[in-house]
Amino acid sequence: QLLMEPFGADIDLAEAVLKDYNAHLVRKASSMKGHYADADALEKLIQQGDPLHYEVFEKAVPQETGHLQFGLSKLQPGTVGEEFFMTKGHYHEIPEAAEVYLCLRGKGYMLMKTTEGECRAEYMERGRVVYVPPYWAHRSVNVGDEPLITFYVYPGDAGHNYGDIEEEGFPKRIYKRGDKVEIL
Ligand code: F6R
Ligand code: ZN
Repeated sequence: QLLMEPFGADIDLAEAVLKDYNAHLVRKASSMKGHYADADALEKLIQQGDPLHYEVFEKAVPQETGHLQFGLSKLQPGTVGEEFFMTKGHYHEIPEAAEVYLCLRGKGYMLMKTTEGECRAEYMERGRVVYVPPYWAHRSVNVGDEPLITFYVYPGDAGHNYGDIEEEGFPKRIYKRGDKVEIL
């Protein structure tokens, strides 16, 4: 078989920064159309300069069976209307591909749902690991006032399926009510 060269990578754990990443995904507010309950508030945010919403930093590996993709996801703090900033969320194209998240910084929830309508919210803060089992779509939500940064690992060939999420969203949304967090 074709052997890949092993490699190491450094994460500054205090800052939660992956050094020497070679793949970088950026999503701004304008990538989030259709995802928030208050579409007008999102439109306003886009008009006001379309701020950075979240980024993914990776040490790229082949997107093939046997490999493991890993990297950092960094979600900015903020709200659209009263709804906390979140990622789009996705199923994996190979739906039985699971994923592990380790929270390095910030506070938030991993929202997970199934095509059958099950929905769970798992709390995340520094040091907490969330296991996303096979078949669960997953979306990160930042309920804090600093970036929510997680380290993730998932099968190399898993792929992303944004499927029904843009039309149907998740059964639960997470709102900022004063200084309270409400999961509805
Ligand atoms: C990979 C994974 C994360 C997300 C990232 C961006 O399977 O779950 O790396 O890709 O948090 O979220 P999406 O892809 O939903 O925009
Ligand atoms: Zn995933």
